[in-house]
Amino acid sequence: MNKLFGLLLIILLFSCKTTETQVRERDSFNDNWLFKKTKDSLASAVEFDDSGWRQLNLPHDWAIEGPFKPEYNLRTGGLPIFGTAWYRKHFVVDASKKGSIVTLEFDGVMNNSTVYINGQKVYHRPYGFIGFEIDITPYINFGKDNLIAVEVSPEVLSARWYPGAGIYRNVWLEIKNPIHIRHWGTQITTPNITEQKADLAIETKIENVQNDQKGNYRLQTIIYDKQGKEVASKINDFKFNSDQESLVQQNLIVEKPQLWDFKTPYLYKAVSTIYKDDVAIDNYSTSFGIRTIEFTRDGFFLNGRKEKIKGVCLHNDLGPLGAAVNYRATQRQLEIMKKMGVNAIRTSHNPTSPEQLELCDKMGLLVMAEAFDCWHEGKTENDYHKYWEDWHEKDLRDMLRRDRNHPSIIMWSIGNEVREQGSKKGYEIAKSLVGICHEEDVSRPTTAGFNNLNAAIKNGLADEVDLVGANYKPTLYAKTREEHPNWIVYGSETASCVSSRGYYVLPVKKYDKLKSLQVNSYDIDSPNWAYPPDVEFHFQDSIPGVLGEFVWTGFDYLGEPTPYGGKDNLTHGNWNTDWPSRSSYFGAVDLAGFPKDRFYLYQSQWTTEPMVHILPHWNWEGYGNKIIPVYCYTNCDEVELFLNGKSLGKKIKGVDKTQIPVSFGAWNGRPNYFDSPYRLSWNVDYKPGELIAVGFKSGKEVARESIKTASEPNKIELIPDRSIIYADGEDLSFITVKIEDGNSVFCPLADNLVNFKVSGPATIAAVGNGNAASIEPFQANYRKAFNGLCLLVIKSKKGETGDITIEASSNGLKSKTITVKSE
Ligand code: GAL
Repeated sequence: MNKLFGLLLIILLFSCKTTETQVRERDSFNDNWLFKKTKDSLASAVEFDDSGWRQLNLPHDWAIEGPFKPEYNLRTGGLPIFGTAWYRKHFVVDASKKGSIVTLEFDGVMNNSTVYINGQKVYHRPYGFIGFEIDITPYINFGKDNLIAVEVSPEVLSARWYPGAGIYRNVWLEIKNPIHIRHWGTQITTPNITEQKADLAIETKIENVQNDQKGNYRLQTIIYDKQGKEVASKINDFKFNSDQESLVQQNLIVEKPQLWDFKTPYLYKAVSTIYKDDVAIDNYSTSFGIRTIEFTRDGFFLNGRKEKIKGVCLHNDLGPLGAAVNYRATQRQLEIMKKMGVNAIRTSHNPTSPEQLELCDKMGLLVMAEAFDCWHEGKTENDYHKYWEDWHEKDLRDMLRRDRNHPSIIMWSIGNEVREQGSKKGYEIAKSLVGICHEEDVSRPTTAGFNNLNAAIKNGLADEVDLVGANYKPTLYAKTREEHPNWIVYGSETASCVSSRGYYVLPVKKYDKLKSLQVNSYDIDSPNWAYPPDVEFHFQDSIPGVLGEFVWTGFDYLGEPTPYGGKDNLTHGNWNTDWPSRSSYFGAVDLAGFPKDRFYLYQSQWTTEPMVHILPHWNWEGYGNKIIPVYCYTNCDEVELFLNGKSLGKKIKGVDKTQIPVSFGAWNGRPNYFDSPYRLSWNVDYKPGELIAVGFKSGKEVARESIKTASEPNKIELIPDRSIIYADGEDLSFITVKIEDGNSVFCPLADNLVNFKVSGPATIAAVGNGNAASIEPFQANYRKAFNGLCLLVIKSKKGETGDITIEASSNGLKSKTITVKSE
């Protein structure tokens, strides 16, 4: 009997494999939309006249196209992030697909979107940061013309920063069997991992829209390694319950698992296939990783190894490209962050794009996935508090279901600096949100960013979450840990230092506001709730059990131009007092992606590859023969500074210091200038020429940097980040535009206007320069250099290959031409 069963099973397995086909169709639904900013509600109708509407491909952010206007709120970037617009698209679903289920997946629409198919309202979603799936089958005319119309109507001040506007993430069309694996329907956990094996627990939700249960159903899950080799598989019979659903639980073993880790972000793939009477009718693929995470009082452990979290907060925009999702631009952001030494990203303060999570998985970056910036009580007029009551549970569950298989995600944040920290009600909400997180995912802890930590403790919110995140409270780490011996504490948001790239004012002192609307780049400025990076370093170093930090922020972002504009951080205020300051100064990297000095300060603390960095620039003729304070950021033991070949002495890191002011009281009465164990400094009697910093480790030279005094701007240099791009209509090359003197020395003060001509299979996607107070358009064929640099971003044309020629010219400068290939 047993033998017979075994034989049958082998035959069945064999037949299952041979009949496997690609049964589910999933295609991009991004191309050929029509767009118009109009309030005309008749635009949902099929017969509506859309001739003359603009044709475009998604993802699209209408607000980034500008123009900047003083009457638009600078808190959200001085750009038109509000209004009503319609997107329309005609499409055909082949007649042969009749009987299938047709769904649309929107990765995110900013915001307040309503979807109509052939004139009928089918869906509405207020939150712009979450994705959704719509079953449009009942509304489709198979084999005929169909019309989708999407109304998008974001309001002013829907966020405290620039959220973008429009269908700004990808859209997908799926055609699948009425019996299929649910949207976000797989959940893969790894309850037990050893060197020998990893136990996988896989739950698969299947739904039956057909309502006909005849036939025998089986679910097969095959695990493939990176090379596509099958490493485990399981097949189970299943039946539908009265709701026409089925939950299949499968346990599999992967022998000798390859662990997902920073340097080896190894990903496996689970392919789930439904068989009806041995015929494959649906399949679904889930990427996942095998790794252990552990949070203790002693710190965070990845695969059993203690790792300090060296994190940054990132908002959702991609600088000059706006909020429209782009894979390469997202990848570039993360590459730059990794160079700084970052190992973790906080998706502040909302669910992020699927692309960013996919990239974090592939690049070995940890993620704190955050759901909300506010709960019931809002922070701006039209932010999420308006939808809280009706939507928060669905939005949170959807984020958890969408994202729970990403190995990069290590914690779920239920909120950032929510107002309810200060009330008893906050505890109830926190409890319910934590409950939802644990219901949906047992494998990760919950957290929140508390800026009002004492209140969050008093009102019980801090006790509700698994990890206590403190925003800007390094002085409370020790006390909080002491008073709550079971709590695990870390810096969910830190520093908030502000600066403008390459901008220096002497004498160095703490300024609140400058006429130039820039901020000194000596890395000592910060709003009164914040502090320079050194202060956080000090507390992280002295309390090793603190998990680490998430710096505010990795990149500059559009909106929230603190210290300019705005009365305080959280209320409506008039943000336009300092027009045209329109984007943040918080980034370690500017809006164009150029590192500021702070980038190197973090690099000196977070990386081991020997580096030295000198600031400021060395062009102080106009300033006279005065003493220039020079900082050097390094991870070497000591640095010797030379001016025109003459040694100015060696300084040892961590020794030549005056103590940094680490208490908040002291910091609020900030000194104008300071030395810290994390910086080396010299006061240099200025003479033009060359300043060289030589870094030593164990007495041996391991790194050096030189900066030179530049003479007049003479020519343009173009440096593409990639000189071959894909002809997919989405790929980008980021071209750094540098102004140099006749000897190819970088001109750190140049502000020449550069004109661009791009010919061949590419277009200009954006220009930028990192100047937070520039209202030049981002979509233009010109840009002024800001402190010597600007940026040109070109985009390939779909299906068109060949040489792209880029010419840059500027009055009085030698032009430059380069070629980038599109393949
Ligand atoms: C925090 C807030 C962030 C940002 C930051 C600026 O309080 O969580 O979103 O506003 O301040 O310092």
